[in-house]
Amino acid sequence: MKKKLVQQVSACFKEQFGAAPGHIFLSPGRINIIGEHVDYNDGFVLPAAINKYVCFAISDNGTNTVNLFAKDLNESYSFDLTQPLKPGDLMWANFFLGVAHLIKEKGLAFGGVNVVFSSTIPMGAGLSSSAAVECGFAFALNKMYNLGLSREAVALIGQKAEHTFVGVNCGIMDQFASVFGKKRKVIKLDCNSLEYEYHNADFKEYSLLLLDSKVKHTLLTSGYNDRRNEVEQGLALLKEQYPEVKTFRDLTEAQVEASKNILGDVVYRRCLFVVREIKRVLDAVTALENEDFATLGKLMFATHDGLSKNYEVSCEELDFLADAVRNDENVLGARMMGGGFGGCTINLVKKDAVNGIIERVSQEYKEKFNIKLEAYKVKISKGTSQYTTEYAGI
Ligand code: GLA
Repeated sequence: MKKKLVQQVSACFKEQFGAAPGHIFLSPGRINIIGEHVDYNDGFVLPAAINKYVCFAISDNGTNTVNLFAKDLNESYSFDLTQPLKPGDLMWANFFLGVAHLIKEKGLAFGGVNVVFSSTIPMGAGLSSSAAVECGFAFALNKMYNLGLSREAVALIGQKAEHTFVGVNCGIMDQFASVFGKKRKVIKLDCNSLEYEYHNADFKEYSLLLLDSKVKHTLLTSGYNDRRNEVEQGLALLKEQYPEVKTFRDLTEAQVEASKNILGDVVYRRCLFVVREIKRVLDAVTALENEDFATLGKLMFATHDGLSKNYEVSCEELDFLADAVRNDENVLGARMMGGGFGGCTINLVKKDAVNGIIERVSQEYKEKFNIKLEAYKVKISKGTSQYTTEYAGI
């Protein structure tokens, strides 16, 4: 699949720009085992990069112009690096404009490039296709022009591009997972210090299955930024109550409970979710290390319920998908994944039951919503990287 993607993008580059690309880069999407909506709340997350990619074919063009071709959309866009770069109306181009702007702002020099890109990461499915684009482009410029950016700096540029050129006030999880992914490893990331460690993603007789609700979300128009504002407001009030508290990590559930009246129902439930979710991630890491997958699965269901009832970022379709497997003895855990309001559920399923589950849930989902469910059996893969051109037919 990867090889085919690379070949198609390379062939398209030749057509567009009349020569083979000089470089190929791959930037993966991500899953998250647990730790949702806590990356911007000083929590921990447990994501991993997957074998779905944005592929970039790219060459230096000796000018100051960046020429982009989005193969999947059949759209082109160009911008001049000598001019001030600002976000425009074309959403996908803003990822590139944002990255170029931020690298320029750091005083780092690079030249015009020709780019063709294409993706096997479904868009709006909660698999972070946008982070893959941002980080892939930043990574490519960094390699091609020896800019000296660390992987962490690349991830941070991706996040800032999202904030300033796309308008989504996201956390760091998606970009970090895309850039730092490792084969068969999940990343336990401390979103406060950006310290991280890898843990084996070996679920023995279980495997991860994504069920795509096909409900598309864009975080820009969803309640994502609202949630950020609500928890910010909540934390400020909690800090007044408990001056020793610096971040959500320092808070106990009891302290949030005791502040219910001051917070008001909505903000109280948002804060309660955050404090509980931060703890769940730590418990999940212990469960994973002990190969206690039953406990891990229970924590995933608890996360879903919290996201649905207290954080209110789920939707009817995602709730249906989590409930459809809740009492299935072959499914240890399931939950909505990513920003929410649509996208996928992530399920921990007994390997030999995967196909049966897909069949059963697809049928039930079709009956209920008249939507054709899509299932992804993902593999945990390495992060953003340069692809050897030898396979690309270059
Ligand atoms: C989106 C954001 C991430 C994170 C998740 C929810 O994917 O981009 O930063 O907040 O939602 O966990």
